[in-house]
Amino acid sequence: MLGELLLASVWVTVACTELCRPDAENAFKVRLSIKTALGDNAYSWDATEEYLFKAVVAFAMRRSFSQEATQVSNVLLCNVTERVSFWFVVTDSSTNKTTVPKSVVEAAIRLNRNRINSAFLLDDSTLQFLQISATLAPRVEPPVPTWLIVFGVSFCLVAVGIVLLIISGIHKNRRRNKEPEETEDLEEKCETTITVENGIPCDTLDLKAGQINGVYAAGDDERLTPF
Ligand SMILES: *[C@@H]1O[C@H](CO)[C@@H](O)[C@H](O)[C@H]1NC(C)=O
Ligand SMILES: *[C@@H]1O[C@H](CO)[C@@H](O)[C@H](O)[C@H]1NC(C)=O
Repeated sequence: MLGELLLASVWVTVACTELCRPDAENAFKVRLSIKTALGDNAYSWDATEEYLFKAVVAFAMRRSFSQEATQVSNVLLCNVTERVSFWFVVTDSSTNKTTVPKSVVEAAIRLNRNRINSAFLLDDSTLQFLQISATLAPRVEPPVPTWLIVFGVSFCLVAVGIVLLIISGIHKNRRRNKEPEETEDLEEKCETTITVENGIPCDTLDLKAGQINGVYAAGDDERLTPF
């Protein structure tokens, strides 16, 4: 009975270490550079720090939609080295025997990267998830999201293009309209000058002259008749 229990517990621990081993399916390697980051204030990596790491990963998993039941004991660490690096896997809380798919763990780590970093007083360069950091680094570094930069640049290009099109269109229209407009203006001016010169002023002058002449002539005639 006792022997069977011992065998069972040995099998369980073997199974667990089997789940967490370097390059295992769904396993992640973590490297910490505590001395580089903190210098004289560096803390030593011990079992308590390991517990904190497990707890923080469990916290990150719980915050993701499908892994709300994750326990601290579902996070397994293995091959911890002194200069601190280790591997970890997250076991499925519903079975405790299979590991959570890599993509799910990766998404949870990415979403909670700041919380994990701040728990250990480290940053992306001194707390590295080797399988994640390569794709994570460009996501975190620019203060403006890359899609916004791309959107802004293309928007500006389109706006500049539209403005240039409008300006060139206006220029073309002006060039096309300038010559006929000018000739029309000239013709209009010619007509008005002609009417001014030969029309109304001349007519009025003629009329006035005729009236004056007529009256004068009549007056003269009247004045002349008595004489
Ligand atoms: C990881 O740890 C296991 C068990 O402690 C050991 O057998 C294995 O050689 C280690 N692997 C590496 C890459 O250090
Ligand atoms: C998994 O392990 C946790 C903690 O050891 C335990 O509370 C839980 O009941 C286990 N789940 C299964 C399905 O064995």
